[in-house]
Amino acid sequence: MSREPMIAPSLLSADFARLAEESQRVADADWLHVDVMDAHFVPNLTLGLPVVQAIQRVSPVPLDCHLMIENPERWAPGYAEAGARNVTVHAEACTDPRAVARDIRAAGALAGLAVKPGTPLEDHLDVLRDYDTLLVMSVEPGFGGQSFIADVLSKVRTARRLVDAGELTLIVEIDGGINADTIEQAAEAGVDMFVAGSAVYGADDPAKAIAALRQQAAAAMHG
Ligand code: DX5
Ligand code: ZN
Repeated sequence: MSREPMIAPSLLSADFARLAEESQRVADADWLHVDVMDAHFVPNLTLGLPVVQAIQRVSPVPLDCHLMIENPERWAPGYAEAGARNVTVHAEACTDPRAVARDIRAAGALAGLAVKPGTPLEDHLDVLRDYDTLLVMSVEPGFGGQSFIADVLSKVRTARRLVDAGELTLIVEIDGGINADTIEQAAEAGVDMFVAGSAVYGADDPAKAIAALRQQAAAAMHG
């Protein structure tokens, strides 16, 4: 089965004073990754639903909302109602991950489950049947520009194997430290969707950076 790599630039590394223009600079990306942080689940604070609603109105790229927040049960469906393509909640923050997935899907989005670098996949394999995407964090959530933690690739390999065997139906997504030096190993391990913040928005030409990452990942994927 031939897979093609997908790229999701992370707005966290964009200019927050120009979010409309920043979304248009990455028009050829697959998803636009939006990091929602609440200063409780993670130490950082970014943006919330009103800003996501505003981005949704102008973005040429479907939104991929990564909720690094406590009580995702309460907030996640609103992001789906706002029109996000995918809404990801953290496994560590959910009390009833099945209910969250059901509510996100009922509101019209794909449902994603994220795991921090230290969270074993085994604890969550069962509920992943109810999800459409798995976000493997390759840095501690909270900040852009951190170094890639290669150990998490064993979780990517496990997920890839289960998806290829037909036991799970998931887009396998990776987030944190993805750049020209790390994307190939992630692609070889079986990632479908690559989130890249500083590697895209830190480049002089974000569109070119996306094309280069896509090409590198495709070459690694197809061996
Ligand atoms: C970190 C965020 C990431 C971040 C990635 O908590 O979830 O999406 O923007 O940034 P880079 O690609 O610079 O590591
Ligand atoms: Zn993220």
